[in-house]
Amino acid sequence: MASNKPIFFSFFFLLLFLSLNLQSSVSQTWIKAGYWDSSASLPVSDINSALFTHLFCAFAYVNSTSYQLFVNSSNEQHFSNFTSTVKLKNPSVTTILSIWVGRTESTNFSLMVNETSRRKAFIESSIKTARLYGFHGLDLYGVEPRNGINMSSFGTFLAEWRAEVASESRNSGKTQLLLTMSANRLPIVNSVSYPIESTKLNLDWVHIRAYDYYVPTLDRFTGFHAALYDPLVRANTDDGIKEWLKREFPADKLVLGLPYHGYGWMLVNSGDSGIDSAASGPAVTIDGSMGYKSIKSFILNYGYGVEAVYNSTYVVNIFKIGSNWINFDDVEAIKAKVSYAKVKGLLGYSAFQLSNDDNWVLSQAACGIGTSQPKKHRLLVIVSVTVAAMVFLKIAIICYLQKKIFKSQGKNGHVRICNDSKQLSNILVKVSTAGLWCALKMLVSWIRTKISAEKRHENDDPNLQVFSFYSIKAATNNFSNDNKLGEGGYGPVYKGKLPNGQEIAVKRLSKSSNQGFEEFKNEVTLTARLQHVNLVRVLGICTEKEEKLLVYEFMPNRSLDFYLYDPFKRHLLDWRRRVSIIEGITQGLLYLQEYSNYTIIHRDIKASNILLDYEMNPKISDFGMAKFFKKDELEANTGRIVGTYGYVPPEYVRKGQYSTKYDVYSFRVLLLQIISGKRNSSLYGCHENLNLLEYAYELWKQGREVEFFDASLDDSSSSCKIIRCMQLALLCVQENPADRPSMVKVFTILKNENSVAISIPKQPTYSITRYERKESIDVGRKKVFSVNDASITQVEPR
Ligand SMILES: *[C@@H]1O[C@H](CO)[C@@H](O)[C@H](O)[C@H]1NC(C)=O
Ligand SMILES: *[C@@H]1O[C@H](CO)[C@@H](O)[C@H](O)[C@H]1NC(C)=O
Ligand SMILES: *[C@@H]1O[C@H](CO)[C@@H](O)[C@H](O)[C@H]1NC(C)=O
Ligand SMILES: *[C@@H]1O[C@H](CO)[C@@H](O)[C@H](O)[C@H]1NC(C)=O
Ligand SMILES: *[C@@H]1O[C@H](CO)[C@@H](O)[C@H](O)[C@H]1NC(C)=O
Ligand SMILES: *[C@@H]1O[C@H](CO)[C@@H](O)[C@H](O)[C@H]1NC(C)=O
Ligand SMILES: *[C@@H]1O[C@H](CO)[C@@H](O)[C@H](O)[C@H]1NC(C)=O
Repeated sequence: MASNKPIFFSFFFLLLFLSLNLQSSVSQTWIKAGYWDSSASLPVSDINSALFTHLFCAFAYVNSTSYQLFVNSSNEQHFSNFTSTVKLKNPSVTTILSIWVGRTESTNFSLMVNETSRRKAFIESSIKTARLYGFHGLDLYGVEPRNGINMSSFGTFLAEWRAEVASESRNSGKTQLLLTMSANRLPIVNSVSYPIESTKLNLDWVHIRAYDYYVPTLDRFTGFHAALYDPLVRANTDDGIKEWLKREFPADKLVLGLPYHGYGWMLVNSGDSGIDSAASGPAVTIDGSMGYKSIKSFILNYGYGVEAVYNSTYVVNIFKIGSNWINFDDVEAIKAKVSYAKVKGLLGYSAFQLSNDDNWVLSQAACGIGTSQPKKHRLLVIVSVTVAAMVFLKIAIICYLQKKIFKSQGKNGHVRICNDSKQLSNILVKVSTAGLWCALKMLVSWIRTKISAEKRHENDDPNLQVFSFYSIKAATNNFSNDNKLGEGGYGPVYKGKLPNGQEIAVKRLSKSSNQGFEEFKNEVTLTARLQHVNLVRVLGICTEKEEKLLVYEFMPNRSLDFYLYDPFKRHLLDWRRRVSIIEGITQGLLYLQEYSNYTIIHRDIKASNILLDYEMNPKISDFGMAKFFKKDELEANTGRIVGTYGYVPPEYVRKGQYSTKYDVYSFRVLLLQIISGKRNSSLYGCHENLNLLEYAYELWKQGREVEFFDASLDDSSSSCKIIRCMQLALLCVQENPADRPSMVKVFTILKNENSVAISIPKQPTYSITRYERKESIDVGRKKVFSVNDASITQVEPR
């Protein structure tokens, strides 16, 4: 019988190990961080904070006489406004004040760390400053084991810092400040080690400065400054991360640094092109360093068609112009590194630094990969696998015991032995049942705490909350008429207020419309995955008692159509506001098309689906008709025509074919409406025979654009001119989808006023609109459109 025990226990430990392992793989918030450096030229208000979870404001210093934290006077204004400014675009972004203690400043730092009273002065002032300016944490940048800093004192310092931060939080009732640092690729340099234990205990996480390994001012041969791998074991990131993990530093406290810069070497022999070629020194700039943006413009201006080659062996992009040899991280390298961080179970990434990005291309690339998987699903897998394994194990034990009993009975027929083994087997079955039950209970309680821990992180959690019907009923005052905001295609929308004071909008799917259920499911699955400041957030669902309810964040300022056509309210939207609304919609669409994990076609972009928040920021709503597909399926066919009359592009009406250009087409109507304040459904011109688009093109052709504009608008003080928007709108309706600019192009044209050439629109194919109108009346099976922006649904194409 003894032989059962090892089997049983090894199984048990296997299970325990399995669940512990899975426990650590259930990730916390994925960190998408970036450093903003005050010495670079990027205005804080230009930071696209929607792409980040954490923003680092750099740099403060250590004062060399008082050892207090010190912010230089010219930075004070930027730092004090930093948090409130970046929160405008992303209210949930976390900001951290970064303190430079590297190179020249390391002496001040090491003197501070060396003595108790100095540490105290620094720690207290740092917390005070962080609170004063509204930062959520503090960061040390550039601590190096090799700079003569006494690492055991540094460990003490970290412990004291953490203790003081914790005590301040208790006393003030505020959330504890985060404490982080950026560290060398290697935990040990020249046999001096970071204080690993103290770092692990006292810091929230560590950024690995995974760049600047080889630089042209020091190395007289070409090298990759930020290679992820190197088959020949030169300095590379993967080896560094492995060193940290080998020292038992937890992966989920490591954040991978991403360089938004590269380095250029001047080759000795311009025929060379590989790594380790002789170089005479830096190329292009004084130290050879170049921001991503300047690398891109360098290629554009001097490259004559040169393309940077991506090398996946090292994960680096390389190009050569003359004897300039330059390596840097382009989109491919950034994506590969972010994937690496995911695979290794790291906590996230941090970009250094933001001003070097080019139109947020790198940040968006990084962001697209970082989205975390739905966690509940993973929990479900863990539970079912474990339970199945337990049941299987129990059955196996019982079978084994029965076989054993049967054998012993057959062998000698001794009743006593038989009884003994029977008893023993009974006991064993009971013990194993109890053991399994206990393990199961432990698992369940662990999952509970895990789930509640996730709930606490609601802000960052893409998962949907499930509301009870009762709570929604209470929140909307029993769906009272007073709370009704409007009636959408699938049912009424109500305003509500949750017990915690949060205002919500509730869409109640009408019971009669079974047509809406597909759309409901569609919207739920889709929007749960989407998060962007310019998309309305779905907070949760309720599917009790045959009710299908969708709960959204509440948009107090209603929708765009509410203002555009109203003779008085239109004045509330001056040109500056309208430009910011256009930009917001563009950003939202850009996210849908380019930067989320899927390509998403909304298919119902129209004024009434653009909602406005407290600050009149636009948010795209209503994903009931949206289609999403994998990035590589560029075009797809559909058997159904959906969308709103007049916003639907011709190829779709003719062939049922749609692509991302579908939304670009709809976007044009919005643009025309925003600049003209005219409805899409009326007819215009002296004979009242032109639709909005025809009218716009006629006037544009005759140089009489001004007549088209909303007379209340004045663009004289804006760099964005109405006429340019009109031209852009006309470009978006070209008959051939290939002639319509992509959203990326639209964005560039809008952003780079006048510096980007914009093509002359060809005659738009507005005959299509008529053709479509006639056809849909001919088809006539379903109600097709009404005067105001109503939706076409379910019209079967021929
Ligand atoms: C403050 O810092 C900025 C950038 O870091 C620097 O350009 C400026 O000279 C500094 N000013 C003072 C007064 O130290
Ligand atoms: C730090 O020390 C250096 C000298 O080592 C000094 O030049 C610098 O001004 C000090 N920094 C501050 C912020 O006091
Ligand atoms: C450092 O602190 C001392 C004493 O508070 C102050 O006089 C000095 O101006 C500070 N240094 C700098 C560079 O701000
Ligand atoms: C914050 O920024 C505003 C301008 O946006 C400026 O007027 C104000 O002075 C700044 N605040 C501080 C404390 O400098
Ligand atoms: C810090 O103190 C140690 C001795 O405790 C000393 O050896 C070291 O030089 C000091 N470092 C600095 C920068 O003063
Ligand atoms: C570092 O500081 C500690 C005291 O905090 C001291 O005992 C130790 O000798 C110092 N180490 C070095 C290398 O100076
Ligand atoms: C990357 O570069 C190395 C060395 O130049 C070369 O041997 C290798 O084939 C390249 N790999 C790829 C995928 O381009």
